[in-house]
Amino acid sequence: MGASFPSSTSRSERRGDGHIDERRGGVKVSISGLALDYVNPDTGVRHRAVEALDLDIAPNEFLCVLGPSGCGKSTLLSAIAGFLPASEGTMTMDGKAIEGPGAERGVVFQEYALLPWMNVLDNAALGLKLRGVPKQRRHDEARKFLAIANLYGVEHKFPHELSGGMKQRVAVARTLANAPEVMLMDEPFAAVDAQTRMVLQEELIRIVARTQVTVIFITHSVEEAIFLGDRVAVMTPGPGRIRSIVDVPGPKATRTWQSVNADPAFVALREQVLSLVRAPASSVATTSSAASTAATVA
Ligand SMILES: Nc1ncnc2c1ncn2[C@@H]1O[C@H](COP(=O)(O)OP(=O)(O)OP(=O)(O)O)[C@@H](O)[C@H]1O
Ligand SMILES: [Mg+2]
Repeated sequence: MGASFPSSTSRSERRGDGHIDERRGGVKVSISGLALDYVNPDTGVRHRAVEALDLDIAPNEFLCVLGPSGCGKSTLLSAIAGFLPASEGTMTMDGKAIEGPGAERGVVFQEYALLPWMNVLDNAALGLKLRGVPKQRRHDEARKFLAIANLYGVEHKFPHELSGGMKQRVAVARTLANAPEVMLMDEPFAAVDAQTRMVLQEELIRIVARTQVTVIFITHSVEEAIFLGDRVAVMTPGPGRIRSIVDVPGPKATRTWQSVNADPAFVALREQVLSLVRAPASSVATTSSAASTAATVA
């Protein structure tokens, strides 16, 4: 229903086709006409997971990506991470083609991916170790990000001694310790309980505000997307393309679940995004008619 979604008076400077106007402060990651295929190595059969996808992400933006299961969200993230080449189209970061993995792009997966034989401090410092940073310096850096992630007094514990939420925060601290310019997060909070998830979401907002990292965050949750995002991109069923992009204006650094739940603008935005996610495949909008909306969420 992208085309019939109430179009807005948005203060967005997006050009309306998935690309961002240069006035917004430049483009960090730019994706144009992207198609991503998986090829079965035995049969040679090609499966198109993402098609004709246009998307620009601004520096320091927090972009959430929503879409039905199998629409290509993880595939898109893998491609931006550099694990999967473009079959068609282009992906650039700071104007340079993305041609493989790089330290400037850090990934946080749904599974915590901590090494069970390493303590928290060494897990958090792992990326720095792989890059040859000397022990004292990488431990200092890892401690800084463990503190930012609100993890105190656990550096000598092992992953099996931590709760799910703590493990996920170690994973976030490890990624941030690498000083990525772009953090790619694939449903990182899906495996933790609802209460912990809310705490992690509130913390992530503050962590990101302190580190100025650009974030692309995949989720199934409309509420999570609106709560965390500066913008929410909704994908079509696979092969995925961008159905619509929704702005979530309003101050974010101070956002809490208590404040947004009482905010009618948040509730209205949630309904709007939900209807975009649930719209039937037949009502796929082209990116050029992507709707946007503006509401102020506290
Ligand atoms: N390694 C692979 N080889 C072949 N096909 C794959 C592979 N990984 C994913 N696919 C297919 O590509 C499409 C997109 O998958 P993807 O994992 O990106 O979806 P998703 O949007 O992340 O789904 P979910 O919300 O369930 O995580 C699906 O049809 C899937 O079956
Ligand atoms: Mg996925």
